[in-house]
Amino acid sequence: MLIAQITDLHVHDTGRHTREIQAASHLARCIQDLNALDPRPDLVLVTGDLTDHGQADEYVRLRSLLAALDLPVLLLAGNHDDPAAMRAVFQDHAYLQSDMPFLQYVVDEWPLRIVALDTTIRGRGEGRLCAARLAWLADTLAHSPERPTLIMMHHPPFSTGIRRMDELGLLEGREAFTEIVAQYRNIERILCGHLHRTMFCRVGGTVASTCPGTAHQIALDLRPDHTLSFNFEPPGYQLHWAGPQGLVTHHCVVGDFPGPFPF
Ligand SMILES: [Fe+2]
Repeated sequence: MLIAQITDLHVHDTGRHTREIQAASHLARCIQDLNALDPRPDLVLVTGDLTDHGQADEYVRLRSLLAALDLPVLLLAGNHDDPAAMRAVFQDHAYLQSDMPFLQYVVDEWPLRIVALDTTIRGRGEGRLCAARLAWLADTLAHSPERPTLIMMHHPPFSTGIRRMDELGLLEGREAFTEIVAQYRNIERILCGHLHRTMFCRVGGTVASTCPGTAHQIALDLRPDHTLSFNFEPPGYQLHWAGPQGLVTHHCVVGDFPGPFPF
């Protein structure tokens, strides 16, 4: 199985300028690259911050941009999203439609079981896993303890060293989440967004990772007194390839560069 992960699209309405970030054209270019991949990914996972303000018109614009994507896609909410607006605009995405107050779901039809967790708090940047969401996770994992499983969640369950982002991190439920995950050997990876750059950390005996944004990146600054900034390092996505020893992650850059040059 080959899975592409994109994240933090931050699509905004054309009339609403979000600084100089051209989120739509960046996403269109990333989609072009994904469509051209050979072999083709089986699935594209979008790990949150689909829009910049969680507005219905932004989801409509996102929907028209995603129409160019020639691959199945699963959506997840980030702190910039509004799950209710997402559900309304993506009504044909059956996995999003439930009466749960949180936008969480499990997809069982692939060789890797996909468990999506909602870490968002409406109107806030930081993340949270409350008792109800954690109980759903515990039940869901207990249901299939043997099947290789991917968890996706917007806020990563680890501190990154980028202090200003850590202040907007998963502030509640992290330890309990780690304890639940640590009971299982079948969790291949915890795929996250929010950080707009690639990171890896061991969590509960498995690997948690973050992915570059499709448009802007969070500037890497590990000084405790830093000012949170973004930059235009080359955007990217990740390809998670299910090999004989488990999931292998490839970091992929979107942009123009020379090569390939055969050896
Ligand atoms: Fe983001």
